Amino acid sequence: MATPHNAAKIGEIAKTVLLPGDPLRAKVIADTFLEDPVQFNAVRNMFGFTGTYKGKAVSVMGTGMGIPSIGIYSHELIHVYGAQNLIRIGSCGAITDRVKIGDIVMAQGACTDSNYAYQYGLHGTFSAIADFGLLSAAVDAAKAHGFPYAVGNVNSTDIFYNELPTWKDWAKMGCLASEMETYALYCNAARAGVRALGIFTVSDSLVTGEETTAQERQNNFTNMMEVALDVAAQL
Ligand code: HPA
Repeated sequence: MATPHNAAKIGEIAKTVLLPGDPLRAKVIADTFLEDPVQFNAVRNMFGFTGTYKGKAVSVMGTGMGIPSIGIYSHELIHVYGAQNLIRIGSCGAITDRVKIGDIVMAQGACTDSNYAYQYGLHGTFSAIADFGLLSAAVDAAKAHGFPYAVGNVNSTDIFYNELPTWKDWAKMGCLASEMETYALYCNAARAGVRALGIFTVSDSLVTGEETTAQERQNNFTNMMEVALDVAAQL
């Protein structure tokens, strides 16, 4: 059974799914890193592919930008296609000088200004956290490669162009970076009892105003991919 957003048949998507925001990035990842990639989706150009990496079945699919979009795709991947390990590979903006452009940030937890968790009817605030096994495997991989990385809280914001400098308040609470998807991914995974992790390369800094060049973005992105694939190969 396909969904309104995903044309894949049951069984065409692997238990481990890598989730870049950009669907064209999903195609590049499939072509560059996976063996024998087969495309399973093109609905709304949200491309998805399944191949193998070091003998393990791995899928890669775009999520689009923002919590509503990743909320839809990850929900369907989990509940319709049986995904068990969902690894977001994205970019983020540094909100502290403790992380530098090009570093890998791993979201131990995700805060948000979104109302996504309202649906659960909780009488309090949900702490959205990474799966510890995926997180520690990613840390081990980054250490083994010698890549600069940081582990901590991030803020998954609904607002890229924000009238208010709200990032400063999240920074005061120890958050490392701003991105736009991980809170929903962690909520969906928690509710379903599956594993999720968000890792990002720092593409810009809200503190310094720095941005990366296209070439830097590409190199830094490759580091993050090596970490994500090392984790996927162990699952
Ligand atoms: N804000 C939100 N998401 C982002 C940013 C940012 O500054 N940079 C990359 N993704």
